[in-house]
Amino acid sequence: MLLWEQTLFKDRDLFELDHLPEHFLHRESQMNSLKFCIRPALQGARPVNCLCLGPPGTGKTTAIMKLFEEIEADTSKLVTVQVNCQLNSTRYAVFYQLYKKIFEHSPPSSGISFKRLFEKVAEHSAEEDKVLVVALDDINYLFHEREVDHVLYSLLRAHETCPGARMGVIGVMSELTLNYVLDPRVVSVLQAEEVVFPLYTREEIRDILGRRALMGYYPGVMADDVLEAVVDYVEKSGDLRVGIDLLKRSGLSAEKRASKSISLEDVTGSYDRSRLVHLTYALKSLKEDELKVLRLAAGQESWHAGELFRHFHEETGAAYTRYHEILTKLDAIRLINADITGAGERGRSRIIRLRYEPGEILSRIGP
Ligand SMILES: Nc1ncnc2c1ncn2[C@@H]1O[C@H](COP(=O)(O)OP(=O)(O)OP(=O)(O)O)[C@@H](O)[C@H]1O
Ligand SMILES: [Mg+2]
Repeated sequence: MLLWEQTLFKDRDLFELDHLPEHFLHRESQMNSLKFCIRPALQGARPVNCLCLGPPGTGKTTAIMKLFEEIEADTSKLVTVQVNCQLNSTRYAVFYQLYKKIFEHSPPSSGISFKRLFEKVAEHSAEEDKVLVVALDDINYLFHEREVDHVLYSLLRAHETCPGARMGVIGVMSELTLNYVLDPRVVSVLQAEEVVFPLYTREEIRDILGRRALMGYYPGVMADDVLEAVVDYVEKSGDLRVGIDLLKRSGLSAEKRASKSISLEDVTGSYDRSRLVHLTYALKSLKEDELKVLRLAAGQESWHAGELFRHFHEETGAAYTRYHEILTKLDAIRLINADITGAGERGRSRIIRLRYEPGEILSRIGP
């Protein structure tokens, strides 16, 4: 029995989703690619721009945090800024954050124009001889009204209006491609190197969560077969966040029973809450037409892909190629199942099914 003042947690913080892990496992190749892109900046040149792409919960944000932490510890030639575009979704808000990081205080509260904000940031880079590296995290939040083109254009052509200014961009998103989103003129100056973050394999998931459990729980709290059950669940959702949340909730559930170890029932009983962590994050990355498909799909238990397309086309006029892209994305981030069935009357067809209860989705995105 666990006494009332005792706990299973050696370090609770490790199970919070905003915790920056000490050991960032299985992302060596992505970290190396990122460092390779940054390297020219260490010699005073402009860094190679890059795009980090991959489904939710694959370590993109963490990779940037790790990278910037390392850079700041190693050199003062670079200024790094990680901008959360969900919170800063206009060019003004983005440059406001750059200003704040560079000058260590907010711009004058009397108000300052975008042009002035931009000049201050660019002049600092030129005059102080520092290369500015900007990570635009969840860059898809800048897609509205072409804000993204303005932000990238300003950053990438700063040296034209302010000679000597050097800036590099790391775009981060859970999209598979940026091609049709950006203005071709921006694409031609961006010339981004792509760094792909694939879903973790089962062994990688086990490794990462095993390490968390080892460091966060006292010895003997989480047995191997219980960890294995957590890994099973993470594989279903593809999102490591579900596992981290499940580690925490199942621990709390064991404590509630005053047990000294976590049981399989603690895990299964907590899963229903934890899996929704993935849903919440996955929905964040969707555009309006993607939400539309999801909403339609929620209308019945399963759909023939062609039938669902007819409804989608009727409402939006969108072409089949776009619809196909959307299905591929929704499948990749594990919101739907799009299986190819055997030969039907009209040849092979895909069956579309939601991986969540329609109510769970609709209550988050609205009908
Ligand atoms: N390789 C890893 N080792 C340890 N922890 C990891 C690893 N990858 C991800 N995590 C943890 O998983 C959670 C999600 O990671 P992160 O926020 O970096 O994902 P993301 O790819 O940015 O997702 P999204 O696209 O939804 O923003 C974080 O709590 C992070 O600590
Ligand atoms: Mg992220």
